[in-house]
Amino acid sequence: MNVDAFEKWESEIRGYCRAYPTVFASASNARQIDEDGRSYIDFFAGAGVLNFGHNNARMKRAMIEFLEADGVAHSLDMYTTPKRAFIEKFAETVLEPRGMNHRMQFMGPTGSNAVEAALKLARKVTGRHNVVAFSHGFHGMTLGSLACTANDYFRNAAGVPLLNVIRMPFETRPGGGLQSLDDYRALLADVSSGHKPPAAFIVEVIQAEGGVNVASKEWLQAVQKLAHDHSALFIIDDIQAGCGRTGSYFSFDGMDLDPDIVNLAKGLGGFGTPIAMNLVKPEHDKHWQPGEHTGTFRGQGLSFVAGREALSYFENDELMSEVRAKGQRMADHLQAIAGEFPAEKLAVRGRGMIQAIDVNDGALAKAMAKECFDNGLLIGPCGSGGRVMKLIPPLTIPDDELSEGLDIFSNAVRKVLQENQRKSA
Ligand SMILES: Cc1ncc(COP(=O)(O)O)c(C=O)c1O
Repeated sequence: MNVDAFEKWESEIRGYCRAYPTVFASASNARQIDEDGRSYIDFFAGAGVLNFGHNNARMKRAMIEFLEADGVAHSLDMYTTPKRAFIEKFAETVLEPRGMNHRMQFMGPTGSNAVEAALKLARKVTGRHNVVAFSHGFHGMTLGSLACTANDYFRNAAGVPLLNVIRMPFETRPGGGLQSLDDYRALLADVSSGHKPPAAFIVEVIQAEGGVNVASKEWLQAVQKLAHDHSALFIIDDIQAGCGRTGSYFSFDGMDLDPDIVNLAKGLGGFGTPIAMNLVKPEHDKHWQPGEHTGTFRGQGLSFVAGREALSYFENDELMSEVRAKGQRMADHLQAIAGEFPAEKLAVRGRGMIQAIDVNDGALAKAMAKECFDNGLLIGPCGSGGRVMKLIPPLTIPDDELSEGLDIFSNAVRKVLQENQRKSA
């Protein structure tokens, strides 16, 4: 393993490579191989990008054909054949079956950029400044989206005040639940409360980076109602939990919700090819002037080609029913390991193939992630101080590799917790 070039030339900002100190050379579906030939099972999947695995064969073939035919790889937002094919397929596979008539807005290819565009549009539509975001939410790193992100570590790097966001407690956090929404409603009804209605509420159905906190249908419906009763927009950030992760295309499917804007990125490009897109209700979309939220990389040819291929997984329920079944296996496995350590009060949370166990302590979680890495499993902690072990393998992971990864994981949890018990005995 030779890391000299990285250590000599790459910025101090580098992060994940410090947790996984090796140099990866190739990857296939749920496995990554380093340059020394060591194989790792991937329970991290590019932080939720690689829903369909590394080097997905169908997407690779489609992209090779596209390149060999001299397809248009970059076109700003000009009309191209791969973009048309993606739009048609998305409408046919995702929007029309749900009776959604949202417009597709492309922007620079990051989740953060999708959130920026949504915030801008909500402010434009309503003429208001403030947006409600929730404790433990994660919405990106650029200044507008960072203002909505709750985590202190990231906020502290902003260098300027992060303004125009009202922070409310997420449903499952202290002070959260329906009562806090009612309290805010009462403030908005009181002309002398000092509160004016916000431009929007932005929420994750499952807070992924925030610790895999899962909101209920009832609470989300109440957030939406509060927004709509005050002519504010209801924005769902489905950047990490969308694109099939929970066992359905959107994390909010079946919840009887009607978001004004849905943010998508990460898994949308299928192959790890970057793309971001907002789904915007037409009555809001008409407030944009041409090119008002521009960006050089609004939809790359390769991302459209691979992303279109990814949508074919949603033509029937085959993959999604597998996701629900594998997700249940993951949850059962985590419950079993939590049951072995009743005194530690480990909480298991998740839906579909985003599952997590809260070990209540960032240092313990870090030790578990290291133990997993040493035994050939890539896994990333999340939540406050990194205390939550989040399992997000590719949705296409074979059964035997899922079992192998879960076994490595529970052995690591056992080893670290038993050592910790010995130390504190
Ligand atoms: C829910 C959510 N929103 C927004 C983002 C930001 O996306 P990006 O890192 O592509 O800017 C992330 C990234 O983890 C996310 O999980």
